[in-house]
Amino acid sequence: MKPVILGLPGNETISHTLATRLDAEVGEAIVRHFPDGESYVRIKTQLSERQVIMVCTLDRPDKKILPLLFAAATAKDLGAPKIGLVAPYPAYMRQDRRFRPGEGITSVYFAHLLSNFIDWLVTVDPHLHRRSSLSEIYSIPSKVVHAAPRVSEWIRGNVNDPLLVGPDSESEQWVAAVAEAARAPYVVLKKSRRGDRDVEVSAPEIEQWRERTPVLVDDIISTARTMIETVAHLKRAEMRPTVCIGVHGIFAGNAYQELLSAGAGRVVTCNTVPHASNGIDLSGLLAEAVGEMGDRGYQS
Ligand code: R5P
Repeated sequence: MKPVILGLPGNETISHTLATRLDAEVGEAIVRHFPDGESYVRIKTQLSERQVIMVCTLDRPDKKILPLLFAAATAKDLGAPKIGLVAPYPAYMRQDRRFRPGEGITSVYFAHLLSNFIDWLVTVDPHLHRRSSLSEIYSIPSKVVHAAPRVSEWIRGNVNDPLLVGPDSESEQWVAAVAEAARAPYVVLKKSRRGDRDVEVSAPEIEQWRERTPVLVDDIISTARTMIETVAHLKRAEMRPTVCIGVHGIFAGNAYQELLSAGAGRVVTCNTVPHASNGIDLSGLLAEAVGEMGDRGYQS
């Protein structure tokens, strides 16, 4: 029997694409809320002895996590031997240690929660900060898809004379790899973050690159302050309009509009979080990664 893809609400497009690529059936499920806010889950597709691949990107995770865990528990109850999760955006990576006394280490708690309900995980470029791999916090097998090759391909096909710009020293390794594959030079800026929405960047000697189009690449656009400050800085240096590329476009509040208003020439993201800016498709890489889980969880 074909494996079943169960997409949580909001993940329909990527679920259908993955089903086609993996020759799987799109399962039928109702996931909704009762008027008082409690979650309701019903899975209509027959799951007994079938591999189940749940698809749920985890931006705005607090609203999604309980329905996701209930759906996974329901699938197990209905006889699915293994439940995998494709979560193109992995949430709760930032709080990976106690920065101030009394803080919760939420990346660990979140990983424990998911690991108790699902059997394997496929995700895209988690921002690991102070961890070296997901296996430090997830007790289940996981596979990470890297967006860099697709980002480089997009730059090669869409930007003339690019200059890649990394927003901070943490991004250097990643930006260098994207630049090399895009056959373009790169610079890395100095960034200091003073608060959630208070970011300052500096770009030493950027003026020498005025004949190139700056392409700012970052793994996450959340409040977009990093990108907004960088775009403003590059504008003051009389550079061409900046192309902004984010792997994960979260765009908290009005961040997208604010970034466009700040003067970004173009804003493009990967389709890990559904958004109008999605221009780089990672579904092929995600399907490959699910296939590669093979003996560790998924068998078609
Ligand atoms: C930071 O370590 C990340 O790579 C991004 O630069 C950061 O998450 C962007 O956040 P924001 O859009 O809120 O400036």
